[in-house]
Amino acid sequence: MEPTPRTSSQPAAWAPLFVIVLSAVSCSSPKEAAKAPPPAGPVGTPIEIPVPLGLPPVAAPANNKPTVETVALGKKLYYDTKLSADDTVSCASCHGPAHGFTDGSPVSTGVGGKQGGRSAPTVLNAAYSPVQFWDGRAASLEEQAGGPIANPIEMNLPHEAAVRKLNADGEYPKLFEKAFGPGPATIEKVQMAIASFERTVISGNSPFDRYQFGGDKKALSPAAARGLAIFKDAAKGNCVKCHTIDDKYALFSDGKFHNLGVGMNAEGELADLGRYTQTKVEADKGAFRTPTLRNIAQTAPYMHDGSAKTLRRVVDFYVGGGNSNPQLDKDIKKLELSGREREDLVAFLESLTGEIPKEVLSQ
Ligand code: HEC
Ligand code: HEC
Repeated sequence: MEPTPRTSSQPAAWAPLFVIVLSAVSCSSPKEAAKAPPPAGPVGTPIEIPVPLGLPPVAAPANNKPTVETVALGKKLYYDTKLSADDTVSCASCHGPAHGFTDGSPVSTGVGGKQGGRSAPTVLNAAYSPVQFWDGRAASLEEQAGGPIANPIEMNLPHEAAVRKLNADGEYPKLFEKAFGPGPATIEKVQMAIASFERTVISGNSPFDRYQFGGDKKALSPAAARGLAIFKDAAKGNCVKCHTIDDKYALFSDGKFHNLGVGMNAEGELADLGRYTQTKVEADKGAFRTPTLRNIAQTAPYMHDGSAKTLRRVVDFYVGGGNSNPQLDKDIKKLELSGREREDLVAFLESLTGEIPKEVLSQ
């Protein structure tokens, strides 16, 4: 899959500085510089995203604080197949509520039945990831959202065509004006609106959260509570090393990249180099971003290539110490876990299914 082009990202904070420096060297008049369209920004009613038990506040970029209008527009776009070349695929086709905001397949199928090489991660709690994609190639949800629309094996609709389609639509132009003020839809506005909607697609208040943060010691079954202890114990599962649990909240991801040896080809070599494709650093070969584990019972199959069908298979994979390769993470080691302990770990993982706000589901 091609990297998401960085040119479609939001202007960085230093952009105005860049303009000044540029105009200084190119001697263009200040009048000319002023002609550049102002960066798009929401104009509607700002909202505070309500956060369930077990999650920290949702941060948003200064130029794209969520509003009633951008979230509503983003939701419509997210569920709309109009953003694909042949009106068959929406974001929700691969990240839909029926499968915990993934698609239930090892790898995703886009326009015309084309398949990619990686499994669709959940969009649930993607708002908390420092970088997006298994290999971290997008710096923000805004930057990420443009990628799949134009990607030939996903929605296959070039950005200009997408924007033309929206501007010719009976409903969208007035929704864009409500969200961003006068002016036509632009790809930048599309990305901002979708990102704002995604920031509301969060899951918390699971049985685990009520047990860990809500003081309800009955919220977990005895098996799940034992599983939590194994998950945290450095001498047992040591899962928290990467799937983090903090004092006041739990994201179940350190936001970093690790090599578990997932995805070996028949020759025993890494089929997908993961983070290395972005950094070209040897140690990053076969490393993928630690995924969240929230609602994990709903998002099978697992791993970046969808190679593990069930949570039991995932646990067995860890018990075996991953797959050998030169870049295997130092924290991936053979585990001493009895059959019952493995079952307990699965029971714990199943306790991470939380409440998803009903406003984010399609009508
Ligand atoms: C054809 C299936 C497909 C469609 C359609 C699709 N995605 Fe994805 N999405 C994927 C796959 C596969 C990945 C992982 C790719 C990778 O990491 O290289 C992904 C990754 C993501 C991520 C990163 C999540 C993370 O944890 O890193 C987000 C966010 C996301 N997609 C949102 C969207 C949005 C918004 C749309 C619609 C504009 C969309 N996707 C359309 C398949 C799809
Ligand atoms: C060294 C860091 C690290 C440790 C320790 C670790 N994980 Fe992971 N986990 C990851 C990474 C990275 C992935 C994705 C790997 C890939 O697809 O290549 C992952 C994937 C998973 C998945 C699949 C998630 C999905 O959406 O597909 C589950 C479930 C999981 N881990 C559970 C556990 C459990 C249970 C333990 C403890 C026994 C554990 N992990 C220990 C880093 C870690």
